[in-house]
Amino acid sequence: MTPFNVLRGLVPLCVALLATLAGVARADTLLGRVASPDDSLVASVQTTDDGRLAWKLDRRGAPVIAWSRLGFLLANAPQMDGGFTLLSKAEAAHDDTWEQPWGERRFVRNHYRELRLSVVQKGDASRRLDIVFRMFDDGVGFRYEFPDQPQLRDARILEELTEFAVAPPATAWWQPAGEQAAMEYSIRRTPLAEVGTANTPLTMRTASGLHLALHEAALVDFASMWVRKTDGQVLRAQLTPSSTGPAVVRHGAFTTPWRTLVVADSAAGLYESNLTLNLNEPNKLGDVSWLHPAKFVGIWWEMHLGQGTWGSGPKHGATTANAKRWIDFAAQHGFRGVLVEGWNRGWDGDWAGSGNDFDYTHAAPDFDLDTVTRYAADRGVHLIGHHETGGNIARYEQQMEAAYALDERLGIDVVKSGYVTDGGTAVFADADGQGVHFGFTDSQEGVNHELRAVREAAKHHLAVDTHEPVKDTGLRRTSPNWMSREGGRGEEYNAWGRPINPVDHEANLVFTRMLSGPFDFTPGLLSLVGQDGRTFNSTQAKQLADFVVIWSPLTMAADLMANDAMYPDAFRFIELVPTDWSETHVINGEVGEYATIARKDRRSDDWYVGAVGDGQARTLALPLRFLDAGRAYEAQIWRDGDQADYRNAHRFDLVVERRTVHAGDTLTLKLAPGGGEAIRFTPTP
Ligand code: NOJ
Ligand code: CA
Repeated sequence: MTPFNVLRGLVPLCVALLATLAGVARADTLLGRVASPDDSLVASVQTTDDGRLAWKLDRRGAPVIAWSRLGFLLANAPQMDGGFTLLSKAEAAHDDTWEQPWGERRFVRNHYRELRLSVVQKGDASRRLDIVFRMFDDGVGFRYEFPDQPQLRDARILEELTEFAVAPPATAWWQPAGEQAAMEYSIRRTPLAEVGTANTPLTMRTASGLHLALHEAALVDFASMWVRKTDGQVLRAQLTPSSTGPAVVRHGAFTTPWRTLVVADSAAGLYESNLTLNLNEPNKLGDVSWLHPAKFVGIWWEMHLGQGTWGSGPKHGATTANAKRWIDFAAQHGFRGVLVEGWNRGWDGDWAGSGNDFDYTHAAPDFDLDTVTRYAADRGVHLIGHHETGGNIARYEQQMEAAYALDERLGIDVVKSGYVTDGGTAVFADADGQGVHFGFTDSQEGVNHELRAVREAAKHHLAVDTHEPVKDTGLRRTSPNWMSREGGRGEEYNAWGRPINPVDHEANLVFTRMLSGPFDFTPGLLSLVGQDGRTFNSTQAKQLADFVVIWSPLTMAADLMANDAMYPDAFRFIELVPTDWSETHVINGEVGEYATIARKDRRSDDWYVGAVGDGQARTLALPLRFLDAGRAYEAQIWRDGDQADYRNAHRFDLVVERRTVHAGDTLTLKLAPGGGEAIRFTPTP
């Protein structure tokens, strides 16, 4: 610490002391202020007269976040919520463009201004803390950095006190956190003041039409952040609890994840933001040419429909013969992957929430793993590994390395994992290895497990697609083999959900769950029917649009072979649509109402558009400005027919047509109730 810094730190203390002696009201002390590169957003940090830290955010001079608390409660040391003074501050700026190995866009600009405030807590301990703000034109991220200091060698964090006091009246779209179905609830829309405890991303729209999304970035070795409404429109960070002690335990120097708020004029602006990715560390894996964004099919929907079983018996889905049929189908229709769920031992009995019998290296007796992988390889098809854990992380960790080694030996390069269990009942090994305890998947130990699995998988050149995961916080930038995850209410709910997915589901997901990253949504259920004849809240065209709108680099075309064969015209779009993009643009959208997204294929000059709606019929304009000027394109259109309606048999009314179009044209999209539209644009020679 320089003498200058010591002096600077003493100034506010002296001011406060003098004010007290003089008997006058003491003012809050502004510690720092930092603006976004375009100066539209300004974050400020102050201490109150008792040294409590607070931050706020203004946009073009109007408050977005009013003064909101910062700090921590610790279990092993006095709280870190007051008595702070400024030790030093530093400003920085950054502007570069980096390339994604796969993704929604190839190039990402990372442009921000940074303010680092080093504060010290008065008293015997003199504990230090840095608060770092990064201001982007479309939002803010800030985090706490704890130095290694003898006064706090071990931080046992009971609570994080970070608040977000949203200033203007707002509506919120959110999902409850800490409940039984984890992240698989339908999105709720309420006044912000009526939010309970919510997961992030949490999306808001203020009375004046400003759009906000609250989330976190780079969730590493920390508990996931839920937010809890405390008072009025004040949300407070709530760290996912641990069942063995404080929510977070760290040793030495460490940083928290970034607390983020994207701010945009439109819902589209929320989706187009790269803030979460930019706040993650660059790719640590180096050459990742072994990752292959692709579509897959497989032994899956038949189990969700109840026509087949994961466990052994006459209806066992994962037989050698059935797998071969799917491999033939994949080869014939150009799908890279075939997923075989139920291939291994341990599915008999009550696997969900138990996982005690799972064996990740031995196949079920009627599934010949070597024969099937060879059969696939001969046809240019790749099996997708499947590791359902039933939430039994302790058991999975014992076998994980051997399981990944087996996959690598077999030439498998993608593994889908699953953690089916009620919220709070995942099974973790005790520190002494003697017993087990239960907890949330998104607790610090759950977060650590999933990242450990991804890193271990990378050593074996495996991409990971996690189901029932910790939410996405942009770690795909650092670990690009974490290619996809679920973390939302997927199409599986249309098989057995009570209720099934609502008609506005996708229009909600685009501006909530999808703000965090790719979603293995399992789209393309052309049959539109689940268990017991329950029909989807969707037209067939919307099932196609989902491939573009609810993006995942690993995408399952989920329906049965027989159903795909029944609708060859619709299925043609599923065969064609890619999963890896060089550009993405949101053409229009309102949260929970509709969304139209245009994406350019990474490997050709083709563009794809998907539009999804809610329960109302909608007419949307699609200006084709994204196409190359001076070039003619053939537009292949899969749209709702004039009769189409998700509420009756006309849900199958699909029109496939072709037109020649140019960049100057505007197409009119007519979405049926519960409808959608999918388009492929190919340059004509
Ligand atoms: C839940 C997953 O989301 C689903 O895709 C899978 O089929 C089941 N678990 C069984 O692993
Ligand atoms: Ca699931």
